[in-house]
Amino acid sequence: GGAGSSRAHESAVKHVTGRAAYIDDLPVPRDCLHVAIGLSPVAHGQLTRLDLEKVRAAPGVVDVIALADVPGHTDVGPVFPGDPLFADDEISYVGQCLFAVAAESHRAARLAVKAAVVEIDEQPACLDPVAAAERGEFVRPPHTHERGDWQQALGTAPHVLEGEQFVGGQEHFYLEGQACLAQPTEDEGVMVYTSNQHPSETQKLVAEVLGIPFHAVTMEMRRMGGGFGGKETQASPWACIAALLARRTGRAAKLRLPRAEDTRATGKRHPFHNRYRLGFDDRGVLAGGEITVIGDCGYSPDLSDAIVDRAMFHADNAYSLGAARVTGQRARTHTASNTAFRGFGGPQGMMIIEQAMDDIARHLGEDPLTIRQRNLYRATDPDATPRDVTRDITHYGQRVEQLALLHDLIGQLEESSDYWARRREITAFNAQSPIIKKGLALTPVKFGISFTVQHLNQAGALLLVYTDGSVMINHGGTEMGQGLHTKVCQVVARELGLDLERVRISATRTDKVPNTSPTAASSGADLNGQAARDAAAKLRERLFDFAATHFDRDAGGLDREAMRLEDGHLVAGIGEAERRIPWGELVQAAYMGRVSLSEKGFYATPLIHYDRATGRGRPFYYYAYGAAVAEVEVDTLSGEYRVSRADILHDVGDSLNPAIDIGQIEGAFIQGMGWLTSEELVWNDAGRLVTDGPATYKIPAFGDLPPTFNVDLLQGHPNSQASIYRSKAVGEPPFMLAISVWSALRDALASLADYRISPALDTPATPERVLMAAEALRARH
Ligand code: MTE
Ligand code: MOS
Repeated sequence: GGAGSSRAHESAVKHVTGRAAYIDDLPVPRDCLHVAIGLSPVAHGQLTRLDLEKVRAAPGVVDVIALADVPGHTDVGPVFPGDPLFADDEISYVGQCLFAVAAESHRAARLAVKAAVVEIDEQPACLDPVAAAERGEFVRPPHTHERGDWQQALGTAPHVLEGEQFVGGQEHFYLEGQACLAQPTEDEGVMVYTSNQHPSETQKLVAEVLGIPFHAVTMEMRRMGGGFGGKETQASPWACIAALLARRTGRAAKLRLPRAEDTRATGKRHPFHNRYRLGFDDRGVLAGGEITVIGDCGYSPDLSDAIVDRAMFHADNAYSLGAARVTGQRARTHTASNTAFRGFGGPQGMMIIEQAMDDIARHLGEDPLTIRQRNLYRATDPDATPRDVTRDITHYGQRVEQLALLHDLIGQLEESSDYWARRREITAFNAQSPIIKKGLALTPVKFGISFTVQHLNQAGALLLVYTDGSVMINHGGTEMGQGLHTKVCQVVARELGLDLERVRISATRTDKVPNTSPTAASSGADLNGQAARDAAAKLRERLFDFAATHFDRDAGGLDREAMRLEDGHLVAGIGEAERRIPWGELVQAAYMGRVSLSEKGFYATPLIHYDRATGRGRPFYYYAYGAAVAEVEVDTLSGEYRVSRADILHDVGDSLNPAIDIGQIEGAFIQGMGWLTSEELVWNDAGRLVTDGPATYKIPAFGDLPPTFNVDLLQGHPNSQASIYRSKAVGEPPFMLAISVWSALRDALASLADYRISPALDTPATPERVLMAAEALRARH
């Protein structure tokens, strides 16, 4: 039952029977107040009047707060300042928080909000990140990676192509929205239940907003109904507001944003504008060039520095760019502050090089898969010409490891998906089908694992063993449905040789494991699994020391060397001399012998370093790989299409839990497909997001699943780095496998022009955009 086997999610039964408690399910104290937020109706301007008298006088209202009522820090920016808890004079987006109301009921609070008198001297809203970048309107300065003489490479390459694309953003659409419940404690502090990927940071911000020490603030987080990056930083403001109201009134305060307000008030995946200019030889192999990615950050920095960095780190995807300069810009616009979302900028960065691969293939009249394969990172060939010798180093200087794995993976998928036979069939089909066109594409993924901000790569765990032998593990990671808690329990069970049933996990709490990192960057199991393992290993060694002298004392004790924990027993000696002591007996004896039965563990990722000043280093401990083949069928007269088949082969090293990993891969692929196809964010000219709910914003549903959907884990390639049991992170990397769907749509469209023109296709590639692309191709051809 330990790590390595397919075990059900620790809350699976609770999830499907409705017994899993989310914030809104928690019983609240009888006098609990309900909070509603007053949001700006205007995208940009000066707040000239905020009169809350009528709000205060509304029925059921107990307290009303705005900026002047904040006793401590008023800025809750997570890394850089720029996020006022409540707006000051400057209004920066529709949905910005102006004030908050606490009332006896949720309804009373929401009705009271409407009584506010808000006057804003409105100014034009900037919603165009390219225009903002041209004017130098940045939330953070631009940054570049540069390797080799890219200008010379462009100047001497036999072919040069350029292209650009718009890559749309994405609403997180977590099923559980932003929610928290704050209770005043008997000292000056507060206890906060929060749906949150980063409890430690929220603890810090709540304490700073209240002006009290961190130890007066405790966060508890049992599970999220999805986070997807949207609760890494953007769960904090609500916790700060609820905590402040709880302290001011002496009553519990619950804040749960209605869906439309959640969607307006919180940031999304960054939309990007990307450009490339790349030189290549007659075989389509890149010599080098230039890539620029412009992230639309919204109004404040939030995590945008690191997100645009990650887009830059992934502008190569799995291909050697040759001599290259990659520039990342962080444009400021008048929308909510865009934030972490599965892949953290990586998907947006990869899109530009995948577009380039398709474009090069059309230009040379080759199959896109051939061009992709020729450009894959490859190990140094001793016989290669000098230009080729560094095809395993990225544009930021990291050596790409496990290249045999990458090539093997793509080769296996090429075969198992029957790529070439299907390619021939599709070409033949398209030749006789004027309206319905099929498309096929194989795209790879190489995704860097580690936080690129070095200090975040650490984790802690607390292991408790009770005298009946039951085990409780606690760690700094948070559960958002991804199965992290299940995996960490499996690690502890494996280290202690116990059935999984004996190991239980409790809610994440800042008073159990302090100073934790967000559960993000797919690193939850890597970091917290290692911390839990460290705790279990230390406890095991202590029990061994104790057992060696405690048991069979008359016979000189037990052999300390060969001792192990397996099948619920401590086992010492081998063969005839084997001695087995049940775990429960061992634990009881250790307790009576006054041996501590709890332990803490710690882990910090080795090897990684990155010097942002020079843009060079090894930011990633390792890379996770994958590839997908997607097939689509497009009605080129309506633009409507469906994904008829998807084949995925994905690298998770030696899986910690194959069932959970496959679930992550399937979910990530479908979520990625939604991002690139149907999920369209639309703002009107005044900067108001009009797609603020399921009626106007289309996430994939069951009916959108490819009827044939083959998902496999790559076998026989353990992680080359000493990650937890040689596994690999799985949360984000498979998201980018969905780029195959977009590329397949372009492939289908290209058939309208004998595969000689590479169609422009911004994302999301809605039927509308697909139709426009088809018409443009017909007009040109
Ligand atoms: N899976 C589910 N079911 N729900 C989620 O919110 N978030 C994703 C991914 N998988 C998410 C998910 C994101 S953005 C990340 S970074 C990882 O899970 C975080 O968890 P991990 O580090 O434990 O993989
Ligand atoms: Mo995930 S975007 O790193 O929370």
